Amino acid sequence: MAKKSVKKTKAVKKAKKALKNAAKKISVKSPAKPKFTGPAKIEMNDVHKAFGSKHVLNGVNLKVHKGESLVVIGGSGSGKSVLLKNIIGIMSPDKGSIKVDTKETSRLSTSERNHIMYKFGYLFQGGALFDSLSIWENIAFGLIQAKGMNRKDAKEIAIQKLRSVGMDANVGELYPSELSGGMQKRVSLARAIAVNPEIIFFDEPTTGLDPIMADVINDLIVERSKELGATTITITHDMASARKIADRIAMIYGGKIIWEGDKSDIDHSGNPFVEQFIHGRAHGPIEIKLQDH
Ligand SMILES: Nc1ncnc2c1ncn2[C@@H]1O[C@H](COP(=O)(O)OP(=O)(O)OP(=O)(O)O)[C@@H](O)[C@H]1O
Ligand SMILES: [Mg+2]
Repeated sequence: MAKKSVKKTKAVKKAKKALKNAAKKISVKSPAKPKFTGPAKIEMNDVHKAFGSKHVLNGVNLKVHKGESLVVIGGSGSGKSVLLKNIIGIMSPDKGSIKVDTKETSRLSTSERNHIMYKFGYLFQGGALFDSLSIWENIAFGLIQAKGMNRKDAKEIAIQKLRSVGMDANVGELYPSELSGGMQKRVSLARAIAVNPEIIFFDEPTTGLDPIMADVINDLIVERSKELGATTITITHDMASARKIADRIAMIYGGKIIWEGDKSDIDHSGNPFVEQFIHGRAHGPIEIKLQDH
């Protein structure tokens, strides 16, 4: 009799467990938690930057979390590159706060600034490779100049990074003028990731490339960034690229972030500026200045 009741309890427990599992399967999913939480890796508050009377950034507020990929879209001349340059410290804001890893960075001394520069990798708009340096020297530039690594070790890493963007080691001996635009972009990407940065900025990484090469670059950006666990900001006009690279998209207009959201929300943003931009319409609320004053 005792044996029977033990058996029964076991059977009841088993049935309860099965029921629980079944309930889990059919339960309505609660809304997805935000993917990226915790303190922001980069945080901008009310950032202003003007050149003479031209107010380029006019109160930018922006947060990027650790490991997140933010894509910033916006018209030509809207201040996208200026935004990145202010974060990295090539330019300083006139007003406002920029924090990296919760530390204020907008008014650092040169030595403090050099210290935090190690966190960053930057693919400059247009590639900006040094013409007089070979490809491997271009990639190894930060390792040798900023990190003081010897040339032999730096070359080894440069070649490994070159391979990681799908290029042969022998390309390392060539010069930028000997490469196609697509190859130059890949080299710029290898240079941006050479120091294994925590934060990477990609400024127009696919501009001027055919759609297939652009997609190769997009894939490489996603793969290499995830591999490093890096936090990234990518600037692009190219919506196919934005959709592929982004976790979140922000649009800059009139010196402010006028919309931001998950990439899945971009097609129903309800924001007429975003709508006009993503559909490339000449008519809409966005004013196109044909003359730059
Ligand atoms: N060093 C500078 N001195 C004066 N004006 C500048 C400087 N850098 C940028 N600007 C001005 O700031 C504005 C924004 O420039 P920015 O390069 O950020 O535009 P953008 O959004 O990156 O455009 P694009 O998509 O064409 O690259 C432009 O009008 C530009 O002329
Ligand atoms: Mg730019």
